[in-house]
Amino acid sequence: MSAKKTALIIGASRGLGLGLVKRLTEQGWDVTATVRDPLHSDALKAVPGVHIQTLDMDEQSSLEVLTHNLKDQSYDLLFVNAGISGPKHDNPTDATAGELGQLFLTNAVAPIRLAKRFVNHIRPETGVIAFMSSVLGSVTMPDAPEMALYKASKAALNSMTNTFVTQLGENKPTVLSMHPGWVRTDMGGEGADIDVQTSVNGMVEQLERFAGKGGHHFVNYKGETIPW
Ligand SMILES: NC(=O)c1ccc[n+]([C@@H]2O[C@H](COP(=O)([O-])OP(=O)(O)OC[C@H]3O[C@@H](n4cnc5c(N)ncnc54)[C@H](OP(=O)(O)O)[C@@H]3O)[C@@H](O)[C@H]2O)c1
Repeated sequence: MSAKKTALIIGASRGLGLGLVKRLTEQGWDVTATVRDPLHSDALKAVPGVHIQTLDMDEQSSLEVLTHNLKDQSYDLLFVNAGISGPKHDNPTDATAGELGQLFLTNAVAPIRLAKRFVNHIRPETGVIAFMSSVLGSVTMPDAPEMALYKASKAALNSMTNTFVTQLGENKPTVLSMHPGWVRTDMGGEGADIDVQTSVNGMVEQLERFAGKGGHHFVNYKGETIPW
């Protein structure tokens, strides 16, 4: 019997991260998932067999602890899902340095810091590192001008990911910048196009389809390529 596939999912207390954990577990994966606050992780704790770790991705000290706790683990998949929508006004004119720093730290810089820490724990050649991007991070995307800062933070994530990929050595994992669709979560809102299950079912299909292919791909949950 072949060993179970292993995944590390970052930001799994709710929404898409929680959905990914449920879907991968249903498919027989062995899943480790992180939350910021273990006291508010009941939905994740209810998933059978999941291993829960604590991480605030923005905090270097928190990342140190996670790295130490997982130092002996190897993964077929690292999915950096955590992200924020930024200040409610999303107005470049009014945004404070603190709001901008928070948005770009969480959405663009912290995911790459984390991936750099874990890249050597991802199985060479067949492993996948996925970053939760958005179609709104495509610099050709004219929609949603009212989300200018959020859009820029995901474009910055794509750019940081591109640099990360160019610095990978031999036996690179496949890297995906993933658009989950517009999904009904706390962030996506009730009026979004699709539910979490539709999105995560599609994303897990793409993770399996791209494993072993190599390279860096910007795709949505249906597997359609998105222009950078
Ligand atoms: N929903 C959509 O339509 C949509 C579309 C495109 C892209 N996305 C992206 O998909 C990802 C997940 O979105 P979602 O809709 O599921 O949002 P969500 O329901 O707001 O969940 C966000 C998750 O990220 C975690 N998180 C936020 N900051 C973190 C940090 N510093 N360290 C660790 N975890 C952190 C949250 O943890 P807490 O519970 O502790 O806050 C939560 O688990 C995000 O990157 C988002 O930008 C979403």
